[in-house]
Amino acid sequence: MQNREPSAHINGAHRSSPGESAGRRLVVMSNRAPIRIVREDGHERIEPTVGGVGTTFLRLLERHGGLWIAWSGGQKTPPRLPFPPGHPCFAMSFVQLGERDVSLYYYGLCNRALWPLMHSMISNCHFNTSHWRQYVLVNERFAERAVAEADSGDALWIQDFHLALTPAKIRAKRSDLPIGIFWHVPFPPVELYMVFPWRKEMLAGMLGADMVGFHTHGYARHFLDACERVLGAEVDRARCEVRYRGRLTRALPFPLGIPVDYFEQLAANPKTLERAQRIRRALRSEIVVLGVDRLDYTKGILERLLGFERFLDTNPVYHRRVTLVLIAVPSRTKVTDYIMLKRQVDETVGRVIGKFSSAGWVPIRYLYTQFGAEELVAHYVAADIALLTPLRDGMNLVAKEFVASHPSDDAVLILSEFAGAAEELTEALLVNPYDADAVAERLREAIEMEPAKRAARMRTLRHKVHENNLERWSANFLHALAGDFALEAHAASAVGAD
Ligand code: UDP
Ligand code: G6P
Repeated sequence: MQNREPSAHINGAHRSSPGESAGRRLVVMSNRAPIRIVREDGHERIEPTVGGVGTTFLRLLERHGGLWIAWSGGQKTPPRLPFPPGHPCFAMSFVQLGERDVSLYYYGLCNRALWPLMHSMISNCHFNTSHWRQYVLVNERFAERAVAEADSGDALWIQDFHLALTPAKIRAKRSDLPIGIFWHVPFPPVELYMVFPWRKEMLAGMLGADMVGFHTHGYARHFLDACERVLGAEVDRARCEVRYRGRLTRALPFPLGIPVDYFEQLAANPKTLERAQRIRRALRSEIVVLGVDRLDYTKGILERLLGFERFLDTNPVYHRRVTLVLIAVPSRTKVTDYIMLKRQVDETVGRVIGKFSSAGWVPIRYLYTQFGAEELVAHYVAADIALLTPLRDGMNLVAKEFVASHPSDDAVLILSEFAGAAEELTEALLVNPYDADAVAERLREAIEMEPAKRAARMRTLRHKVHENNLERWSANFLHALAGDFALEAHAASAVGAD
């Protein structure tokens, strides 16, 4: 076991104080690290990565400390990096993956098989045995690192579908550790899951954990169905429990929350307000509609564009008055389906712009880039309406971030029925993204909504986002995982103390 660095404390009965190491440590594991090191012109800088897992746990460990085991992202990194540099709150422990790993495990099994499978997009699935074999090997490597790093008082919290086999692999060597895995993507109905050639192995891997967390009841139910039908495991649906090979695992819904205060503070910051005004001035549009996603075929970006086109077709009165700002973050750019999607989005944006633009008005502002939190929140603040149309999405954090960034309740959220967030955010205007007429109609409805009705809906949404914030979410999960645990506020002075 290695030296414990930035002290991280999930703690129950005993509270650690600076200089003590009485607290339990949270060890987070994910494929994607929250940060990457960029080297340019002989200089090095650290940038955040994009995606729900990274943003969530970055904010959590910055507050509470801990250890985070993740892939280095192909960059040259030290094996261990205290983060943030200068005043570290937690430590990164980087796993190096070779070219073969990246190609077969990450691009292959993770992004061409599991990602579409979990989103019920079977026609995008490519199954290949050499991809699977590499997935097994990489999961072994992650498990070995966890076994080497973890102290017996630690709790392990594994993230997402990249590491489905890791719980059982760790469990085989360490019976002392509480192990949880959170599934950040949907879990498909068993009839669809059955097409996966390694359906048994994957479930058995996940069942090495004590707790499997999902965003919604529906996903947890699908998982229990799969355990029963595929593994023949004993399932107690009322208690959300699976018994398999003598071990008990619970599968429960924990809808992911966001750090609400972080977004509220950023949204209220005068610099953000100034940026938001600048964005609006540049757009020169009375009504600003915003879409933000990684450029991914699950996000319904094309469907959004077609819905917007239908809206302009059927509502000429809004020409020259409405602009759609489309932020599309480059993602998984070596996978063919993503390359094709990029081409289609480029073409569709061009076509719609060509069809409707007139002197002084361009209906779509298309930004194929990744923004930092400050610029992103300025866009949230600048927008009147968020139009989020995933065809299927585990949660969709952008929806919650948009709500939190409008403390004066002066906006409308249009959200796909097929995002996990729609289960909670029922005061949004919910829409079927496959129905272009419905998207167009929802847009018109949002624009024409009475201010009092807008505010009332938004107030309720904000209340919900507050009620289940990131702190509460993580505390709930950890409590369910290991009863007496509670996250302890991170004391900066304790860093490196033990
Ligand atoms: N995000 C970001 N910069 C951008 C666009 C998005 O940091 O330019 C973040 C956003 O704040 C959110 C995450 O990326 O926390 C996206 O999470 P979401 O659950 O919406 O989708 P995912 O990418 O995880 O599928
Ligand atoms: C989704 C997944 C995350 C992943 C993120 C970004 O949110 O659930 O696990 O990190 O997308 O994708 P990437 O492939 O770049 O890590």
